[in-house]
Amino acid sequence: MTAILRALRADITTLEVDAIVNAANSTLLGGGGVDGAIHRAAGPQLLEECRALGGCPTGDARITRGYRLPARHVIHTVGPVWRGGGHGEPELLASCYRRSIELAAAAGVRTLAFPGISTGVYGYPVEPAAGVAVATVRAAAADFPGIGEVVFCCFSERDLAIYRRLLA
Ligand code: AR6
Repeated sequence: MTAILRALRADITTLEVDAIVNAANSTLLGGGGVDGAIHRAAGPQLLEECRALGGCPTGDARITRGYRLPARHVIHTVGPVWRGGGHGEPELLASCYRRSIELAAAAGVRTLAFPGISTGVYGYPVEPAAGVAVATVRAAAADFPGIGEVVFCCFSERDLAIYRRLLA
């Protein structure tokens, strides 16, 4: 079975999927952007579980429960800070998507949603980031047939248009 890939505009904390992915930082102790929104919506128990994980390197991911979120799990991944593109950013970003799918599959997740990892505070330009996201998710989902649907959750119309074009 091939996973369905689609893009939509939404607040990721509202999505009724098995898992949502968080664009975290290496401390896993919360922050602004989508990270702040996810922690606010999930409640304080999420931070408690994250504290026990002891951080996460850039390009890797960790999985927790979703607590008050509609999603049963949160997969926290740490994207690269954009430094012009010549510092391994594409490979690290691809690794975030790949590792998140691996953890999702291992947890029995069938539907999951990604935000635009690194494209906010971390400054990764949306067009190339979306290219990496779609190509990596396509390849990884093919390796894990349990993954039925992957949503690229966009926060702006502009981002949504970029993903829609890539997925068409
Ligand atoms: N739902 C979906 N997407 C969102 C939401 C939301 N509720 N809120 C923001 N976005 P960012 P990064 C989009 O900055 O660049 C944090 O402080 C946003 O428009 O959240 O990976 C962490 O703790 C953008 O497209 O993540 C780290 O320190 C995308 O989510 C740092 O920011 C990612 O923007 C990580 O930076």
